Amino acid sequence: MTGEDKFPAVEVLDGKPQKLSLKREVGLVGAVSLVAGTMIGSGIFMSPQFVLVNIGSPGGSLVIWAACGLLAVLGSLCYAELGTVIRESGGEYIYILRTSGPVLAFILIFSSVIFVRPASVAGISLSFAEYALAPFYQDCPCPQLVVKCVAAAGIVVTATVNCLNVRFAMSMQVFFMVAKVLALSVIIIGGVVLLIRGETESFEDSFNGTNLGINPIGIAFYQGLWSYDGWNNLNYVTEELKRPEVNLPRTVMIAIPMVTMLYLLVNVSYLAAMTPRELMLSSAVAVTWGNKVLGSWGWVMSIAAALSAFGSLNGTFFSGGRVCFVAAREGHMPDILAMAHVNRLTPSPALIFTTAISLLVLIPGDFQSIVNFFSFTAWFFYTITLSGLLYLKIKKPELPRTYSVPIVIPILVIMAAIFLVMAPIIDNPAIEYLYVTIFIFSGVLVYVPFIHYKLCPGLLEKVTVFLQLFLEVAPADKNL
Ligand code: ARG
Repeated sequence: MTGEDKFPAVEVLDGKPQKLSLKREVGLVGAVSLVAGTMIGSGIFMSPQFVLVNIGSPGGSLVIWAACGLLAVLGSLCYAELGTVIRESGGEYIYILRTSGPVLAFILIFSSVIFVRPASVAGISLSFAEYALAPFYQDCPCPQLVVKCVAAAGIVVTATVNCLNVRFAMSMQVFFMVAKVLALSVIIIGGVVLLIRGETESFEDSFNGTNLGINPIGIAFYQGLWSYDGWNNLNYVTEELKRPEVNLPRTVMIAIPMVTMLYLLVNVSYLAAMTPRELMLSSAVAVTWGNKVLGSWGWVMSIAAALSAFGSLNGTFFSGGRVCFVAAREGHMPDILAMAHVNRLTPSPALIFTTAISLLVLIPGDFQSIVNFFSFTAWFFYTITLSGLLYLKIKKPELPRTYSVPIVIPILVIMAAIFLVMAPIIDNPAIEYLYVTIFIFSGVLVYVPFIHYKLCPGLLEKVTVFLQLFLEVAPADKNL
């Protein structure tokens, strides 16, 4: 029995209960903003100095940024094919479920719900808070408690908007995307002016000092890839996309190259305004850039960076809530998480759940470690997902697909992804990565008793009915 049979669907039409479904409200512009708006967030304002510290030279750092962009483009083309073959929402979760089976899919959803999503929400909100507070603490570091409280407020506000109205959340996404593309354009134009004035010092002998160790390259990639993460965002909401077979490939081909170009040019501008050393030492690079280039208007950059992170937070919530929702629909999460509000049609229980865990992660979390562990775990699962695509291409060529990538692309991305996951382990292994790996696989300990053997089946029913009435939610249907 699924959640949809056990709990009443509330809407009644012609005397028959109707199942609620999320509407197909996302068109091409919304989709591009959903992808680009989530990708551009905290990273481009926080990571450049860490990429540089690890890789050691400005030339090397630009190569890393370009390579991360290429990886995101190639990865998303693979996902576009996956999205047109498997037309359900849910991203990696649903692809792993359909290609590699329920155990791996459960392990993914378990890590994703308990760590990956909340970690990304917490990471982005921390950068939102740092930048929002920067103008008020120009001469001294901002107290951590204040940063965390503002970050928590940011999380609660975005979650509330997403619970109230899909359309409003989408318009917010478009608004923030325009704002941040403008902000990045200001940085780029400033950079062009500096270059024309001959500020090219950082680019002389630009590969001098490049670090070629596996570990530093891997960590530099983790930092860069954090800024690109979100390239797969549309695959979480395929069911809400108008004409996914057309809009999915089209969106990624517009959004990701655009973001890559912006990031590269912004990095060039940072390096034109600062020496590599200044860049490495700056704690909030956009503020340092603003103070140097815009003078007394420098504070504008901190507001822009804060808004950018806020938009990314919104996009992360928009798609993140939906993953819980799909997994609950498949019986891998409590039923309540598969329900949508009866009038607003937003998956509010899943959103509330993600918020609660994100707030918990925020308490001990710091931006740097969050990013590294996030990238490690995320690429671990991207590797499994892409292997699923290879499997479909080789074993099920007959499945109808409106978009198909050349097989070398998933092979290349898988090789890169394996390198990424192994890099911090092979060379100079840090014990934390072992803990993360153990945590990822500990999902099996929950899967075997509760999902496979269905121990304590009635446990959640009473709670579900109570919460259903309290939150005014009902089971939602698939929208294929
Ligand atoms: N790229 C975003 C940033 O730079 C982080 C995205 C986190 N991942 C996600 N799926 N929302 O802030």
